[in-house]
Amino acid sequence: MALIEMEQIRKSYKMGGDYLEVLRGISLSIDQGDYVAIMGPSGSGKSTLMHILGCLDVPTSGHYFLAGKDISRFQESKLATIRRQQIGFVFQSFNLLTALNALENVALPLLYQGTPPRIQRERAKEALTLVGLGDRLHHRPSQLSGGQQQRVAIARAIVSNPPLLLADEPTGNLDSHAGQEVLSIFTRLHDSGQTVVVITHDAQIAHHANRIIQILDGTIVSSQEVTHV
Ligand SMILES: Nc1ncnc2c1ncn2[C@@H]1O[C@H](COP(=O)(O)OP(=O)(O)OP(=O)(O)O)[C@@H](O)[C@H]1O
Ligand SMILES: [Mg+2]
Repeated sequence: MALIEMEQIRKSYKMGGDYLEVLRGISLSIDQGDYVAIMGPSGSGKSTLMHILGCLDVPTSGHYFLAGKDISRFQESKLATIRRQQIGFVFQSFNLLTALNALENVALPLLYQGTPPRIQRERAKEALTLVGLGDRLHHRPSQLSGGQQQRVAIARAIVSNPPLLLADEPTGNLDSHAGQEVLSIFTRLHDSGQTVVVITHDAQIAHHANRIIQILDGTIVSSQEVTHV
């Protein structure tokens, strides 16, 4: 079943008297359990597309069906509910709260969902263990390496079991070893059924996915299956 279906998504920004067209008719379909990389050069519209996929922004025109529901014209309050329930985000810059330790950062989405504190802690601990940080529960972000911080961010993204995991340049701030660790976590999550969409300009990173969608100047120029040997 298609988890994501986009039909002729356009996004433009008004700049002075002109419209800048950033997405120019994107149509794509992503199945549940898929692992897709979206590639393209700087400025091609990857993050703009990710913001729409992640319900952080709405398209100017076109339709976006998430789990069968057309959410293209939803108001912010409804989009916020979808984000909370259905989407886990991983960003290049980790976006952890510096005053909270790893366990508290990861528990945050559950806190917002009104999960009882004891269950928050249990699930946050499970998620941190899954990313190999079972021994860093009480470290604050400043006491963790970059790779560890990104793994905390991944744990936070998956702690409430969202159907969709979205990552925008997740290894952009990491050295190659820490980057490989992040990618191997994504592969494991995908192997256990998680739908993963990774945005990157790096072909090596993209090749961990099952399919690579290339965008250029706001349009899709190719969509290819990856064969893993
Ligand atoms: N809020 C905005 N207002 C006006 N223009 C914008 C806005 N957001 C993005 N753009 C423009 O849209 C284009 C695509 O931006 P986007 O951030 O999606 O690129 P990207 O593919 O993610 O690039 P990078 O690889 O550098 O992150 C850029 O030319 C950018 O200047
Ligand atoms: Mg970007």
